[in-house]
Amino acid sequence: MTEQLRPDGSLRHLLTLESLSRAQIERLLDRSQTYVRPLGERPPRSTALAGLTVANLFTEPSTRTRVSFELAAKRLGAEVVNLEVQLSSRVKGESMLDTVYTLQALHVDALVIRDAEAGVPGLVAGHVAAHVSVLSAGEAHVAHPTQGLLDALTIYQRKQRFAGLAVAIVGDIRHSRVARSAWHALRALGVTDLRLVAPAALMPAAEEFEGCARVRSIAKGIEGVDVVMMLRIQKERFGDADVPDGDKYFAAWGLTPERLALARPGAIVMHPQPMNRGVEIASLVADGPQSVIRDQVRNGVAVRMAVLAEVLGTRGGA
Ligand code: NCD
Repeated sequence: MTEQLRPDGSLRHLLTLESLSRAQIERLLDRSQTYVRPLGERPPRSTALAGLTVANLFTEPSTRTRVSFELAAKRLGAEVVNLEVQLSSRVKGESMLDTVYTLQALHVDALVIRDAEAGVPGLVAGHVAAHVSVLSAGEAHVAHPTQGLLDALTIYQRKQRFAGLAVAIVGDIRHSRVARSAWHALRALGVTDLRLVAPAALMPAAEEFEGCARVRSIAKGIEGVDVVMMLRIQKERFGDADVPDGDKYFAAWGLTPERLALARPGAIVMHPQPMNRGVEIASLVADGPQSVIRDQVRNGVAVRMAVLAEVLGTRGGA
């Protein structure tokens, strides 16, 4: 695995949360919180990254992650370029590195990469010049580290602790980089009751998610939990898995107000979006008082500012 830290221990790349310590994750969360403002107030701005350039290189669709990385970089004073490239998988590795070398020659200092193929952010990180940082914005089903951080931050804002919390991740866990990064973060932060709640076809392989309970019924899975994290069915990532669609899935696995009532009073509901309303989640829940889905989006910008400041901060202008 590509080393994410510089020899002095500072964070250079962010490809996964898996190998980060609790202290490193807490530091990023503390830094993120300093960038959070209530809606209606102006977001914070600084010149910390003035003179530096961030490139967003996305080969998979994205709305929130792309826009929030762009806003995060701009609010810290960096220049931003956005590239949405379609590469055939046969030539991808090579073309990706050519694109990266081109961006590097244009004085890009950080590359934010989203790709459907496992290993691409790490491959790029292994080939860039020493002053360049690589941040994953979603790698296949493997990792989505800034999402894991924003999910942890959202939980902490509402619960003020991690120890003793019960968290259920519900739905298409097998294909979810969001679930993997959430697990890495929450495990490091001391959550011990983490339940994977999914039909057999959407459960991850047995050797993954060590220490998590596996529950094959949504009613049992969310009973008494503090946090319910719903996931989208990621059809684009599976071939012919035996998963009921639409109404049938909702009937068996959808989060309805009745099912949510089984969680602990005051439990929060999360979803990384895009949401399929009426498939994995009822609109009444998504838009209801226990939903923190829009907080997650707001926190996404703050987390991406913190990560950019962390990896590039020592090189910034101010
Ligand atoms: C997710 C992703 O792309 O991994 N979206 C996001 O980044 N917030 C989840 C998904 O696509 O279902």
